[in-house]
Amino acid sequence: DVVSRKGLPLNIGAAVGTAFYGGPDSQTYREVLKRQFNMVVCENEMKFENIQPLPGYFDFEKGDALLAFAAANGMKMRGHTLIWHQQNPLWLMQGSWTRETLLAVMREHIQTVMRHYRGRIAEWDVANECIDDGPGHGLRKTVWAEVIGPDYLDWAFRYAREADPDALLFYNDYGAEPENAKSDAVYRLVKGMKQRGVPIDGVGLQCHFHNDELGPAQLAAIAGNIKRFTELGLKVAVTELDIRIRKPAAARDYAVQAENYRQMIRLFRSNPDCSTFMMWGFSDRYSWIPQFFTDCDDALILDRNFEPKPAYAALRGELER
Ligand code: G3I
Repeated sequence: DVVSRKGLPLNIGAAVGTAFYGGPDSQTYREVLKRQFNMVVCENEMKFENIQPLPGYFDFEKGDALLAFAAANGMKMRGHTLIWHQQNPLWLMQGSWTRETLLAVMREHIQTVMRHYRGRIAEWDVANECIDDGPGHGLRKTVWAEVIGPDYLDWAFRYAREADPDALLFYNDYGAEPENAKSDAVYRLVKGMKQRGVPIDGVGLQCHFHNDELGPAQLAAIAGNIKRFTELGLKVAVTELDIRIRKPAAARDYAVQAENYRQMIRLFRSNPDCSTFMMWGFSDRYSWIPQFFTDCDDALILDRNFEPKPAYAALRGELER
């Protein structure tokens, strides 16, 4: 009864949220997590505002707790995320920085966190969502880009490699899954980094999908996109998959969702440079979806009672082939 038996040559996992740390379901949540998966990632607890809430004050408690659980159960861990424009502390957002002082902050953050976890976190999302959604898809106008300049990402990855040479370093983004204008921009970004010798190992495709958007043409466009990234010598990870359904969900929607999960894992497994497949949670009881897309829900593979949905069976069936 496992999606990913230990020993499967793939990392299959889920984002772990507050239920892990306490509350009425904590025990069940942990049991299901260790039975079903071989990789975990913190949904929020290792983001900048949580891990360095005050300048120079680092709080590793929650990250350490998940890592200890992972290690005790033979699971790997991803790190999410070092550099982002959201979930940053006010001291960072409101500080008056120069290029030099902000580079120093970035370096200290990346290196203190990565050295703390050195050798124990397999993959890091070094940078998250740095491409703008507007026409042109330039670099997002974040504090990092505005104060440091467009080379801030190069420095982030160099600092990261220096801090933990064994961790795989990823650029992670959403909306860049199929070949489209945004993934073209991500492609240009990471290709430039490769050409400049910047130490990047992979691209993370978040994969927050709507159940109706994954037809054959879209899946082919995702496969094509994965192929071009891997042809640059990069790994591609599915980092935050969920497939939301418009409310109220009908039986047919769950069948479509199951087929979508099946197609995603199939497409992923068809490329040898893809080895990490993460979902953004595992039970519909705990998901970011209904808060952010109020007309949707039911995006994960287990229902609110941690019971398997058709999507679970589809995923498992595909993994057992
Ligand atoms: O911690 C506070 C808590 O103290 C407070 O009582 C409560 C009241 O609303 O809010 C809590 O913080 C919330 C936090 O999740 C923890 O639950 C924030 O309001 C809420 O905004 C935050 O949302 C997270 C979101 O990132 C923030 O952008 C989601 O849980 C998390 O799933 C989501 O994850 C992101 C990835 O990191 C990057 N890719 C997209 C993905 C989905 O948005």
